[in-house]
Amino acid sequence: MSKKIESLAILPRVWDILSEKATKVCENAYAPYSKYKVGCALELEDGTIVTGANQENASYPLSMCAERVAVFSAKSQYPHLSITKIFITVNRHSPDVSPIAPCGACRQVIYEAQSRQDTPIEILSGSTSAGYHHFHSAEALLPHPFGPQDLKKAKH
Ligand code: THU
Repeated sequence: MSKKIESLAILPRVWDILSEKATKVCENAYAPYSKYKVGCALELEDGTIVTGANQENASYPLSMCAERVAVFSAKSQYPHLSITKIFITVNRHSPDVSPIAPCGACRQVIYEAQSRQDTPIEILSGSTSAGYHHFHSAEALLPHPFGPQDLKKAKH
């Protein structure tokens, strides 16, 4: 379950930095088809920040969400560092829109990243105008997940 929060002011300052980086990287989204530019900034256990923006394709299903760009980039460059925090935002700013929430595929990928480490990943998605969803772990984002543990149990 997520908690809705109105402002980052009640959270540690690092969330402001992640919000700034995610907002900035939205500019690098390639979204000529949807015009929906998403930015993601994540923090690793040593304080390194990795960002990603969605990348679309004329062959629509090949498009890739900002969260997966960022998580795969982080795990490619720093495979042994845990992800501590993920922030997601979008270039749509209106109090009428609800905060962005990661799609199902990204939830699955974030869950797998968390299963590779001992500590939970905290996730925040949204904007100053729409407010934020705050998830304290990947399980809060993806209840009853399918993951590596299921493959270990499988007997043929
Ligand atoms: N998108 C993301 O990058 N992240 C999300 O959490 C939701 C959707 C992208 C995919 C596509 O490029 C565009 O937003 C519209 O769906």
